[in-house]
Amino acid sequence: MNDPLRPRAFSGIQPTGTIHLGNYLGACRNWVTMQDTTDGIYCIVDLHALSVPREPGEIRQATLEAAKDLIAIGIDPERSTLFVQSRIREHSELAWHLQCVTAFGELRRMTQFKDKSESNDFVSAALFTYPALQAADIVLYDTDVVPVGDDQRQHLELTRDIANRFNSRFGEVLVVPEHRIPAAGARIMDLQNPTNKMSKSADAVNGTVMLTDTAAEITKKLKRAVTDNDGEVRFDPENKPGVSNLLTLLAVATGEAPETVAERYEQYGPLKADAAEAIISLIEPIQARRAELDDGTVDAMLKMGEDKAREVATTVMDRVRQAVDLH
Ligand code: AMP
Ligand code: TRP
Repeated sequence: MNDPLRPRAFSGIQPTGTIHLGNYLGACRNWVTMQDTTDGIYCIVDLHALSVPREPGEIRQATLEAAKDLIAIGIDPERSTLFVQSRIREHSELAWHLQCVTAFGELRRMTQFKDKSESNDFVSAALFTYPALQAADIVLYDTDVVPVGDDQRQHLELTRDIANRFNSRFGEVLVVPEHRIPAAGARIMDLQNPTNKMSKSADAVNGTVMLTDTAAEITKKLKRAVTDNDGEVRFDPENKPGVSNLLTLLAVATGEAPETVAERYEQYGPLKADAAEAIISLIEPIQARRAELDDGTVDAMLKMGEDKAREVATTVMDRVRQAVDLH
């Protein structure tokens, strides 16, 4: 922690149920490998999750589940910093200062806001300003690189714009971060609706593989995955989204290119069976580690992360207060 020679990596995930295969392949898996080369800070963003209505108690439980998932996939709370966003009050404070240099028009252009505001009955102001809180999460830790899936590209570009604008008004105060989006796996699609991204929403149960699914459930979901009628195995995400998604899943699991994987198959059945098998062997060791984690141990790990995070956050927030002349 705090190795000045290593780039600082920061990323976040919302506590909204257990992690799915899209989260894992698009983002969280890279957080684990980056532990060897970066100083990693990983945050369970409970304040972001409150931007849509939740039942009382739901977030607390989901936060614990997300922490277990992240530890089970290999985030090491000793080597990295793993913590809960709301425990560090500076996130909310910095978000306000960043909102003051964010244009209404910039937020209105965010596609995630457009999508989420269409699918929710109650559209909160927080859902609208969500990207400014995300920018605060990132710059509060002098972050150099942000490993995320493709759906976060626009938020990361906005983060850079906000940080640059803040610096041009107040001096070189904030580090301007870069995103890191993987070449393969950055956009895993829903198995039932392969033109939509895989997500945690309740109507996507059969299209989404959760890291807690049993081998039988995974086999069934893959067997039923929507493909097409032309019967040809070819990597062509535009015209063959279902088949291309299966090829991507198998390719990412085996570390090959999807085009290379495609050469080995002539029929959809064997491709689905092998993709299921590859996913199961990826997930089974994670489930075994997860089963050994008890709540008390995980709580203690989160507390350790909170203490480490606070050290950085208070320093950067002091710098921001000085810059905006509110010290
Ligand atoms: P969320 O669950 O929205 O908090 O997302 C956590 C991380 O997973 C972010 O970096 C997302 O970009 C990534 N992610 C979410 N869904 C997918 C998906 N279907 N494919 C690839 N990455 C994803
Ligand atoms: N908005 C991100 C998502 O939905 C979650 C997030 C919040 C995040 N703060 C972050 C991701 C900071 C990266 C960095 O996936």
